[in-house]
Amino acid sequence: MIARLLESRELAPGSRHFVFEAEGGEFHYQPGQFVSLVTKVGDDEITRAYSIAAAPDGNRFALCANLVPDGRFSPSLFAMEAGDTLQLKGVLGTFVLRQPPVDSILVATGTGIAPFRAMLAEKHAPQFTLIFGVRHESSLLYDDEWRKLAATRPNFDYRPTLTRPGSNWTGRTGRVHEHVLEAVGDRRDIDIYICGLREMVDELRARLKALGMDRKRIIYERYD
Ligand SMILES: Cc1cc2nc3c(=O)[nH]c(=O)nc-3n(C[C@H](O)[C@H](O)[C@H](O)COP(=O)(O)OP(=O)(O)OC[C@H]3O[C@@H](n4cnc5c(N)ncnc54)[C@H](O)[C@@H]3O)c2cc1C
Ligand SMILES: NC(=O)c1ccc[n+]([C@@H]2O[C@H](COP(=O)([O-])OP(=O)(O)OC[C@H]3O[C@@H](n4cnc5c(N)ncnc54)[C@H](OP(=O)(O)O)[C@@H]3O)[C@@H](O)[C@H]2O)c1
Repeated sequence: MIARLLESRELAPGSRHFVFEAEGGEFHYQPGQFVSLVTKVGDDEITRAYSIAAAPDGNRFALCANLVPDGRFSPSLFAMEAGDTLQLKGVLGTFVLRQPPVDSILVATGTGIAPFRAMLAEKHAPQFTLIFGVRHESSLLYDDEWRKLAATRPNFDYRPTLTRPGSNWTGRTGRVHEHVLEAVGDRRDIDIYICGLREMVDELRARLKALGMDRKRIIYERYD
């Protein structure tokens, strides 16, 4: 299949939201899954995974990506203009909500927020707490959406935390770990979904296991 870029917009310095249309077949996915995209750099074919960052909408799908300046794939993604195409290898991944959903903590750093934007597009009966860690306030991707959702859905709680806050920030600070442990408290009957770069995911998994969380309740996606 082919993925044609319809539009893109800056979310934060070095981070963009992309909307594509899949062409050449039926396109289906579950919130939380990712697409595998292919591009040519010189003679090399490069494949990279990107979580889908919106609810299913026919053949359209959205991505949220960081520019890795010396990366092999993301610079070509960021250079795309509306109408340009990439090869789309398909939809993959098991990072989807367990059924039936139970009270859950969703933990993201950076673009690890992408699959949660797809999952949270639907209303869920249980309590969902989103803990989102970035460096600067300007990097809180989709922050206005999360704040609106928290104001309108009584069972959704949004807890952003900054590791390099500006002097005006009065919210949570530091890495996500302590905020996750606080949200877990004495509960061992909840699911915890974690998405981001390997170091964060692995450290947090180790902290949760040390608490006595059942490993089957720790569901994760690592980006590297
Ligand atoms: C299942 C899965 C889903 C993914 N979903 C997304 C997504 O939704 N958005 C996204 O931006 N990336 C996502 N990634 C990462 C993506 O596939 C690429 O690894 C990333 O775009 C870097 O590719 P590159 O070729 O430009 O860099 P490479 O040449 O492969 O350089 C790798 C370097 O980039 C770093 N890196 C990887 N991902 C990121 C990132 N997101 N932000 C900052 N640094 C990063 C790695 O730690 C490593 O240091 C996902 C990866 C996996 C495995
Ligand atoms: N988001 C952006 O604005 C952006 C855009 C384009 C490119 N980049 C580059 O891409 C790289 C990574 O991107 P990113 O900032 O989105 O992701 P990141 O490195 O995963 O950082 C996101 C948040 O996770 C924290 N973190 C890092 N390691 C952690 C760990 N082991 N456990 C818990 N939290 C941890 C970071 O805190 P610390 O501050 O303590 O590291 C930061 O608050 C960086 O080199 C960055 O310069 C970033």
